[in-house]
Amino acid sequence: MSERSNRRILLIDDTQSIHVDFRKILTPTPEQTVELDEMEATLFGSDVKSASPLFELDSAFGGQEGLGKLKWALQENRPYALAFVDMRMPEGWDGAQTIEHLWQADPRLQVVVCTAYSDYSWDELLDRLQAHDRLLILKKPFDNIEVQQMANTLLTKWDMTERASVQMDHLGQMVERRTRQFTEASVELQREIDERKQLETQLVQSEKLASLGQLAAGVAHEINNPIGFISSNLGTLDGYFKQLQEMLDAYRDAEEAIGSNELIERLNQLRERVELEFLREDIPLLIKESKDGINRVGQIVKDLKDFSRVDSNQEWQWANLQQGIESTLNIVANELKYKADVLKEYQDLPDIECLPSQINQVIMNLIVNASQAIGPERGTLTLRTGVEAETVWIEVADTGSGIAPDSLQKIFDPFFTTKPVGQGTGLGLSLSYGIVKKHRGDITVRSEVGVGTTFRVELPIHQSKPLPPR
Ligand SMILES: Nc1ncnc2c1ncn2[C@@H]1O[C@H](COP(=O)(O)OP(=O)(O)OP(=O)(O)O)[C@@H](O)[C@H]1O
Ligand SMILES: [Mg+2]
Repeated sequence: MSERSNRRILLIDDTQSIHVDFRKILTPTPEQTVELDEMEATLFGSDVKSASPLFELDSAFGGQEGLGKLKWALQENRPYALAFVDMRMPEGWDGAQTIEHLWQADPRLQVVVCTAYSDYSWDELLDRLQAHDRLLILKKPFDNIEVQQMANTLLTKWDMTERASVQMDHLGQMVERRTRQFTEASVELQREIDERKQLETQLVQSEKLASLGQLAAGVAHEINNPIGFISSNLGTLDGYFKQLQEMLDAYRDAEEAIGSNELIERLNQLRERVELEFLREDIPLLIKESKDGINRVGQIVKDLKDFSRVDSNQEWQWANLQQGIESTLNIVANELKYKADVLKEYQDLPDIECLPSQINQVIMNLIVNASQAIGPERGTLTLRTGVEAETVWIEVADTGSGIAPDSLQKIFDPFFTTKPVGQGTGLGLSLSYGIVKKHRGDITVRSEVGVGTTFRVELPIHQSKPLPPR
């Protein structure tokens, strides 16, 4: 039997002599122990070694006193494992009531009812106490060995129940811990899955940009050449036409010197047929339109080149974004003033390491987009700036049309536009995305259809880790 096993017994009986008897049986003197061992050996065979354990016996002479002792023992963290309770106690609670109270205080307590006769039938008693598994009945007069073996067995039962309950608790805690670990692991897993998905999206986005970048660089290179000679030819053509005009003027002046009326008439007819005056006005206009057109193509090619970063001869420098925002606002002020009120919510910004003209281009794209998203009704454009740790952020918010959820994933794609042909190339945001990524920053968007859109650009203050102090 384990050393820690509970040997504590409470005897509740109003008869003094019963206490003396129990004490003799359960806490015998050494001589009595030998006697009991011999008795036990006769009963159970000669092999039985002295298992007479020492019991710790407490006495109570009524139900209330017994309950008091039980509660005190519980408080002291030395609970009783077993109580012998007399059934008939004329004063105070009888056995059944006593047991009810004892179990209310400590349901683990094993109980033996001792009685010669009872006021209840046994079935009644067992039903009333609802405890067929914690109650034994000991009928008087009882045998010593019977009492001792009952005590032994019930104490062991108490111990085993206790151990099982500790193990169950332990098991419960283990299950709880494992469940918690499992929940944490699955949350972590979900986070990783989300992160991976986001990374994949980013990867797809940058791959798309990279391959388009290469294509764009090639196309830009090829187109640049013809643009160059078309543009230069148009310039030359313009010059030639001016010379032709001069020549025509001279011919016209010379007409007066022609003597033949018939010839003059023919010239007049021809002039009317070819609409010479209209041609003289329209040809320069056509040349000018063609020049504008080819300039636009040139601008698109330049954007494509920027987008593909083929011309990366710009210098990284420390610059203040605030100035950039202000100068960009000035450039688009004309367009903005009829469409939106501009609100500025600025914080002081530190200088950041960047390619200022490119960042300005990003801000310009965002402001132009915002302005274009605001419909015929006057809206609001809010510009916000701020610093967070090692990052500077800019937000461009509008009260415009908003972006439909299925367009949201495409707005950074090159050539994605919802604007009519000729109004948008769909390069603004993909260019901006490329520029922000080049700065190792981030560009994100929040949008609600019919409410408005906010673009947020986050840029690190330092591009490279600062040198350690010398
Ligand atoms: N502030 C905004 N509000 C609503 N939609 C927007 C906003 N910004 C961008 N978009 C949507 O994203 C699309 C792509 O924008 P992006 O700037 O790349 O091209 P674009 O403005 O159409 O053409 P570009 O800028 O080349 O002239 C736009 O056509 C528009 O549908
Ligand atoms: Mg745009």
